[in-house]
Amino acid sequence: MLDVIDLNLEFHDHLVPETVVYDFDLHMEPGEIVGLVGESGSGKSMTALAIAGLLSRHDMQKRGKILFEGQDLLTCRRSELRSLQGDDIAMIFQEPMTSLNPVYRIGPQVEEALRIHSPGIDKEERKRRAIQMLADVDLEEPERVYDAYPHQLSGGMRQRVMIAAAMICGPKLLIADEPTTALDVTVQAQIVKLLKRINREKKTAILFISHDLSLIRQLCQRVVVMQGGRIVESGSIEEVYGSPRMEYTQKLIAAIPRCEKKYARRQSGKSAQSAKGGMQDGR
Ligand SMILES: Nc1ncnc2c1ncn2[C@@H]1O[C@H](COP(=O)(O)OP(=O)(O)OP(=O)(O)O)[C@@H](O)[C@H]1O
Ligand SMILES: [Mg+2]
Repeated sequence: MLDVIDLNLEFHDHLVPETVVYDFDLHMEPGEIVGLVGESGSGKSMTALAIAGLLSRHDMQKRGKILFEGQDLLTCRRSELRSLQGDDIAMIFQEPMTSLNPVYRIGPQVEEALRIHSPGIDKEERKRRAIQMLADVDLEEPERVYDAYPHQLSGGMRQRVMIAAAMICGPKLLIADEPTTALDVTVQAQIVKLLKRINREKKTAILFISHDLSLIRQLCQRVVVMQGGRIVESGSIEEVYGSPRMEYTQKLIAAIPRCEKKYARRQSGKSAQSAKGGMQDGR
């Protein structure tokens, strides 16, 4: 379904060009969940935006191939790219408040991709599908959410709304760039569970980006580790977690229990226990 071959991304907005992604390769089968992990600044978001066809900056040079069902997103026409975006490929981001427009109600924002890609669908049917989608992402009282403004919802609810908006056209690939980083651990676990269910029920492939290897382990079948714009390691979850080849990956793995301990210290005994239980459920 997706074949990224030798992707190089280079900024030209400074005196000296700066390469931020080098020789990136990724193959994804339909319905597969792949994790992309790496420290801050390692090039995860740039790679994700390029795959989603959202890096249209004129000061950026893109080399290589991004083949989606055989079509190269780097060379196809703008109109072809637009017909894929939000329809076959959708993306969700870290902070849903920045992707949701605060002055519009939730409903029209969830319907947006449908309005663009299926103009033949009338208003009532669009609303019906949007409310169904809000219910599908486990939002209670979806009719009320439909009429609400973003600020009336919690962070976790807003992320569910973003997932509903991303899923409304039934994309084949969902790119999730740190969708849970702004949420507390219990809500994180719920969102991960939701993504897992979407993948199972709708067969949507997911590229899940995170700097948190423990979340990746809960959700993904395969993981790609990036450092300094390069892939330093990739393989099945068992391979990479069982015997990481790179010292960098070993450090990322070693950081998992430390984070969990830190979280546990911050919480009262009871809530820390329930959060941990939730995370294990999500596996
Ligand atoms: N306009 C720009 N010019 C040059 N370099 C840039 C520009 N914008 C971003 N970068 C660099 O691109 C690199 C990759 O950034 P990217 O946002 O992909 O990292 P990331 O892995 O997503 O990090 P995080 O985990 O913090 O989200 C970073 O080193 C960043 O400094
Ligand atoms: Mg990022």
